[in-house]
Amino acid sequence: MSETVRNFIAGTWCDAADQRSFQSYNPADLEDVIATVPLSSRADVDRAVTAAREALPAWRRLPAPRRGELIFRAAELLTANKDRLGNLVSREMGKVLAEGLGDVQEAIDIGYYMAGEGRRLQGETVPSELPDKDCKSVRFPLGVVALVTPWNFPIAIPSWKLFAALICGNTAILKPSSDTPACAAAFVEILEQAGFPAGVVNLVCGPGGEAGEYLLTHPGVDAASFTGSCAAGEALEAKLAALHRPVALEMGGKNAIIVMEDADLELALEGVLWGAFGTTGQRCTATSRVVVHQSVYGRFLTMLAERAAALKLGYGVDPETQVGPLINERQFERVLKYVQIGKEEGARLVTGGQRITDGPLATGFYLAPTVFADVRPTMRIAQEEIFGPVLSVIPCSGLDEAISIVNGSRYGLSSAIYSRNVNTTARAERDLETGIVYINASTIGAEVQLPFGGWRHSGSGHPEAGGRGGAIDFFSKTKVIYRDFSGKLQKAQIDKMDEGFPPLPSLDNQEHEHV
Ligand code: UN1
Repeated sequence: MSETVRNFIAGTWCDAADQRSFQSYNPADLEDVIATVPLSSRADVDRAVTAAREALPAWRRLPAPRRGELIFRAAELLTANKDRLGNLVSREMGKVLAEGLGDVQEAIDIGYYMAGEGRRLQGETVPSELPDKDCKSVRFPLGVVALVTPWNFPIAIPSWKLFAALICGNTAILKPSSDTPACAAAFVEILEQAGFPAGVVNLVCGPGGEAGEYLLTHPGVDAASFTGSCAAGEALEAKLAALHRPVALEMGGKNAIIVMEDADLELALEGVLWGAFGTTGQRCTATSRVVVHQSVYGRFLTMLAERAAALKLGYGVDPETQVGPLINERQFERVLKYVQIGKEEGARLVTGGQRITDGPLATGFYLAPTVFADVRPTMRIAQEEIFGPVLSVIPCSGLDEAISIVNGSRYGLSSAIYSRNVNTTARAERDLETGIVYINASTIGAEVQLPFGGWRHSGSGHPEAGGRGGAIDFFSKTKVIYRDFSGKLQKAQIDKMDEGFPPLPSLDNQEHEHV
């Protein structure tokens, strides 16, 4: 059953101005067309930017707690529609149903979190150095923000960006991935039902190269937020720097788990399987390297190969399924290319590596979970982001070597260590150079109440989600206000208003006189 998705501009659902369209598919079964979607052009983006700009003055003046109430209502509606939306995520993106529901849950979580922020949005008040004067800082929205989101978390990532932008008083244009537009439209429908005023949230579907890039660089936009590949993010960063436009980028990862000799190997195995093959390896936080102490290397590898080979592939909506398909042909080809590169580099393929070509799965993009052993840290499969179910196992001789292998990457999103020794994990916690570090847990599964973002080339240093330094810091700018109620000119740094207090002892103390 296929649906028709429309753009949402100025509170109205509409086709592309020139009536062009494209289709989105179920990656588990290419004959299952999910939706016919507007293929937007510049004219559609222009209209959406105009709508967002017109809605801005009233929206930014609406008290933040009121904005929070609308977000709270959206979270309530997401909860009421969780099953329907989770199923849609599973069908359009391919992830297993439990994860599709988790995707929606992450949106609910950030919805409740950001709704509460409406009653905080803290600035600072600090004392003045002068009497009868006070100082504070206040948050202001950036204005109209352009949000470009990927397909791997088709509800959660739009919600991270939108709820944070909206609570701060920005108006927004969302351009979702062309692989998951129906999910984005279903999410925006919820926002419409929640009662956001027309023009506050706008949706424009279409290809990244055309609609997406035009939107992010549009002169009517004040700030941009993008989650996607490193190559696209870095190209965008260069363009937006020339426009002096703030941009938050969430890009790739080459996340690693360290398994020490004293680890609970069963627990570590669970973590590695979940991190590497959950979401079919298509998370920025996915485990793509596992660095194993040489004294348990052989044993762990045998366990891993056996369990990876036994994972059940299938349709995401089938409750038996543990691993779904890859999202599309381009990604599939890319992942297969890396399997080939791994073989050519001399890594040992211990399981997987081939497409499923028989039975019902032959109609989707299914790759058997793939494990390469004896990988050297400098190999391309250990350095480049693959974004699929391909895991590199690297031996190490101890903690220092393990940490330097993990840190020897241009990426720095997430890492993990399994060990029962508190000193070992504390050292790892201190020395791993990633934005997120897990102790005795996998590299995936961040919660929304703390910042989500990577170091180095994994991001631009403006994390998503909650907590200090999270998305609110990106989507707001600070205004500092000094109020002088002395009725006279007071000069900071110059006037010393300490009348009535005994003078401070002189620093020209003879005892300490220098000769
Ligand atoms: C992503 O892959 O882009 O921490 C987001 C996690 C999820 C979010 C992943 N909560 O794995």
